[in-house]
Amino acid sequence: MKLKYALLVLSAALSFNASAQAPIIIKFSHVVATDTPKGQAAERFKQLAEKATNGRVKVEVYPNSQLYKDKEELEALQLGAVQMLAPSLAKFGPLGVKEFEVFDLPYIFPSKAALYNVTEGEIGKSLLKKLEPKGITGLAYWDNGFKVMSANKPLRTPADFRGLKMRIQSSKVLDAQMRALGANPQVLAFSEVYQALQTGVVDGTENPPSNMYTQKMHEVQKYVTVSNHGYLGYAVIVNKKFWDGLPADIRTALDQAMKDATTFEKAIAQRDNDLALEAIKKTGKTEVYMLNAQQQAEWRKALLPVQTQMESRIGAGLISAINKQAGK
Ligand code: LMR
Repeated sequence: MKLKYALLVLSAALSFNASAQAPIIIKFSHVVATDTPKGQAAERFKQLAEKATNGRVKVEVYPNSQLYKDKEELEALQLGAVQMLAPSLAKFGPLGVKEFEVFDLPYIFPSKAALYNVTEGEIGKSLLKKLEPKGITGLAYWDNGFKVMSANKPLRTPADFRGLKMRIQSSKVLDAQMRALGANPQVLAFSEVYQALQTGVVDGTENPPSNMYTQKMHEVQKYVTVSNHGYLGYAVIVNKKFWDGLPADIRTALDQAMKDATTFEKAIAQRDNDLALEAIKKTGKTEVYMLNAQQQAEWRKALLPVQTQMESRIGAGLISAINKQAGK
């Protein structure tokens, strides 16, 4: 009897010890630098999640494509090699959810308020739902900002783009956008952009200032045009099987941590992009040019037809719903 009891106590101690020692691991992989809106928010989520779960969850953040590049990270998530990502909304087309490319349409969002109406509204929710058949659960939208264009020649009018090789993300909308300007779009992984600009594999690119500055792209680009012609943001996603398999109390705590990290992320996004643009100006290596009203009108004239051109791919209903919501 004594032996049996001793064994029971021992096994209870071992199982307690085993469960206490083995936290649930969340590998959070992303492709940008840590000192970006997304990079900082990933760190903030780590802190909040580990605190809210008293260490029962451990979040390992892998920035700068340390683990996987753009295309590979989505495959790794579906396989369960990583548990969490926050890819750009421009990178879901290859997954077969091309509706997300609506976020890439030139001038679709006249303001951040119009954007948030979509990401925090029914449209945003219904788009995330489309990921579930792919084994992915969407948790939140994270913000970055409106994009600037860069090259080693001034980009003032659409004609200035003629024949330029311009790096884009893997989006058919961005492909159409660059072709509408007379440029040749080249899809490259984010981690390959700096070198491709430096060696001339591509002539120019587009991104929000925070990505341009933290990847030092301005050091190999003499001219930046503040065009705000398009938007770049993110969807925070998890492996659905992993998420559904979590203990309910853990999932609730992580949901709250994600909400708080998202509030933090949105609060720093515009500030970080403004600071990055100032920092690029301060280097004196890159001329930063603001389009005037007449040039803005020329860009709109060249790029707005992309919205109609992409109706068959994205869905006319979705595009008009967003334009209507934005009061257009
Ligand atoms: C890019 O590839 O340019 C961006 O999507 C990178 C990022 O995640 O912000």
